[in-house]
Amino acid sequence: MKTLAVCVGSSCHLLGSYAVIKRLQQLLAEHRLNGEVELKASFCLGQCQAGVTVCYEGTLYTALTEENIDAFFYQHVLAGADEESGRKGKRDGDHLDD
Ligand code: FES
Repeated sequence: MKTLAVCVGSSCHLLGSYAVIKRLQQLLAEHRLNGEVELKASFCLGQCQAGVTVCYEGTLYTALTEENIDAFFYQHVLAGADEESGRKGKRDGDHLDD
């Protein structure tokens, strides 16, 4: 299982990490990735000046907001999951003709 950790340290909390977590929960559920990606809260990731910070599979992503979290999700989380499902076969609900 992959790990997606959202910083909930003081700075990130003030900048909206709770809204980022809520949206990621929705996106993971919508794309049926709850069994593949574990969403966790994290203590400070050391990037406090850079905005809400997320660690996904060991890589840090900064300046995430409620407005840009969808783009992050599609670019990094869903794209990686699709690459894996291509190797393992499509997930339920995926179109077979795409
Ligand atoms: S509080 Fe989030 S990186 Fe420090």
